[in-house]
Amino acid sequence: MSASRGIRQLHRWVSMLFVLTVVANFVAMVFGPPPPWITYAPLPPLALQLLSGLYLFVVPYRAGRPTGQSA
Ligand code: HEM
Repeated sequence: MSASRGIRQLHRWVSMLFVLTVVANFVAMVFGPPPPWITYAPLPPLALQLLSGLYLFVVPYRAGRPTGQSA
């Protein structure tokens, strides 16, 4: 289960990085149209969030339940 704990921590901290990049966009817009590297800065962390979030969604459904055993 330590792998899923690591992924959860990643998801948690990358979410803060993502928020910072969105805030940076709003701050930059005060000074006019932001350069493309600021505009697109949220996309890499968002991609990590998507992948780690989909993993976290699946974790409870594959949590050590033997196949063929009903709930
Ligand atoms: C992009 C697609 C995303 C998917 C599919 C996704 C999915 C998930 C899932 C399945 C969980 C675990 C819920 C549980 O406890 O069972 C989770 C937790 C969480 N998500 Fe996301 N998420 C996404 C994006 C984001 C974004 C954009 C943010 C914030 C900016 C975010 C912040 C969080 C936080 C803070 C948690 C709790 C982590 C913890 O337990 O420490 N997620 N997410």
